Amino acid sequence: MINHTTLIAHRHPPSAGTGGREEIRNPLRFFMWLTQTYGDIVQYRSSVEPAYLINHPDYIRQVLQSNGQNYNKDTFLNKYMLEALTGQGLLTSENPLWREQRRLIQPAFHKHSLPKFAELMQQAVQRTTVRLDAAAAEREPINIANEMMRLTLDIVTEALFSFDISDRAAEVGEAMDTMTAIGKPRHRKVRAAIELLDQIVYAIINERREHPQRERDDLLNMLLDARYDDGSAMPVKQVRDEVMSLLVAGHETTANTLSWTWYLLDQYPDVVAHLEAEIDEVLDGRVPGVADFPRLVYTDKIIQEAMRLYPSAWSISRRALGDDEIGGYFIPAHSIVAMSPYTMHRHPDFWDDPERFDPERFTAEKIATRPRYAYFPFGGGARQCIGNNFALMESLIIIPAIAGRYRLRRVSDERVEEHALVTLRPRGGIPVYVERRS
Ligand code: HEM
Repeated sequence: MINHTTLIAHRHPPSAGTGGREEIRNPLRFFMWLTQTYGDIVQYRSSVEPAYLINHPDYIRQVLQSNGQNYNKDTFLNKYMLEALTGQGLLTSENPLWREQRRLIQPAFHKHSLPKFAELMQQAVQRTTVRLDAAAAEREPINIANEMMRLTLDIVTEALFSFDISDRAAEVGEAMDTMTAIGKPRHRKVRAAIELLDQIVYAIINERREHPQRERDDLLNMLLDARYDDGSAMPVKQVRDEVMSLLVAGHETTANTLSWTWYLLDQYPDVVAHLEAEIDEVLDGRVPGVADFPRLVYTDKIIQEAMRLYPSAWSISRRALGDDEIGGYFIPAHSIVAMSPYTMHRHPDFWDDPERFDPERFTAEKIATRPRYAYFPFGGGARQCIGNNFALMESLIIIPAIAGRYRLRRVSDERVEEHALVTLRPRGGIPVYVERRS
C-alpha cells in the first residue's frame, strides 16, 4: 500500500533511456548491462513503452507475490504474441477466468498425480536412445537440442492428451519456431503456423470427443468432463486454448533446460564424473523411476544449477494496475515491470562467481541461506509455473537415462550464444558426437 503523503513520487529510479537496437538485437545483454550499470531497479524505455527492470529478491517477491494482486499480465509478450497462439488459456488469461481454470487444471499437476507419468516418460526417452544408438554407431554428430525438443513434445502430448505426436513432431517444431522467431502474429508465415498447430490441437480434441476413452484419466478428459458451477461444459474453444497453452508452455522450456544442461556438462568433466558415479551406483544401467528420485541428489542439483545459468523463461513481466512503491521508488499505475531470472541468477550479492557452473550451490544448507526470490526459474506467487514438478521429474528421468548410457561431446568448443526469444534457446543448437559408455 502506498502512503501518498510520503510521496515517493519524488523519487524516481535511475533512467537508462532507450535500449535502441541493442535491446532488440540482444535483450539479454541489454538487461545485464542495465543491472550492472544502474543497480537493482532502473527505468528504461523498451521499444514499446516505458518499463522498469527490477533485480532484487525483495522487489521480485513484492511484484509476484506479496502485492501480486496489483499486477496483471497485460504485457506486449502476452497480449501481442502469446495470445495470438494460446488465446485465453492458463498462460495469458486474467481473473476471473484464470482462477477458475487454474483451480480446475491444478490437480492434474499435483505431486500425487505425477508418478503415473513416469512410465511414459521412460518409454519416450527410450525412443530417443534408439536414435542416439544409431548416431553413436555411425559416429555422425546430431543436434541434441533438436532431440530434446522432440522428446519433450512427445512427453507432454502423451502425458496430458494421450496423443502420439511423433510423426508430426518435425512440423510442430517448425511451426513453433516460426511463431517465436518471427514474433509478429499477423505475418503470413506465422498465421500459417498457427493454422497448422490449430489443426493438430483440434485433431487431438476431436479424436477424443468422437472416441471417448473413459478409462483415461488424462488432462484432456478432465477438461472435457469439467462442469462449471452452473453445470455447463467447457466451450471447445476454451479446451483448445488450454491444450495449446500447455503445449507451448510445457515443451520448449523443458527442452532448453535439458539442452543447456548438456552444454554445461560438456565443459565440466568433474561434474560429469560425479554425475556418472551417482547414476551408476543408483541405477546400474536402468532408466530411473520415481523410487530412484530421492537418491539422484547430485543430478537434481545439476538441473537446478543449469536453470540458474540458463533459465528458459528468461524474462517475466507484469503491468501495474495501481501505483506502487518498490525499494523506495515510485512506480506509477500502468507501468510495465520486468524481472529477469537470467540477471537475478547472476546478481553478485547473492551468487559468488556467478558465471561458474557449480551444482553444489544447491545443497539444502546453501539454499536456506538465500532469499526465496534470488532463484525463480519457475516464477512465483499465484501465477507460478503449474508444470514445475512435471518438468523436474521429466529432467530427472531424461538426464540419467542419457548420461548413464552415453557421453555427449560437443563437435566444437565454441561458446554457444544465448538466443533470447520467448524462451532462452541455444543459438544453432548443440551439435554433439554420441559415444556409448562401456
Ligand atoms: C524447465 C521447464 C519450465 C520452466 C523454466 C517454466 C517456467 C515458467 C514460468 C517462469 C512461468 C511463469 C510466467 C509468469 O509468471 O509470467 C510459467 C508458467 C506456466 N507454465 Fe511453466 N515452465 C516450465 C515447464 C512447464 C511445463 C512442463 C508445463 C506444462 C506441462 C508448464 C506450464 C505452464 C503454465 C500453464 C503456466 C501458466 C501458469 C498460470 O499462469 O497459471 N511449464 N512457467
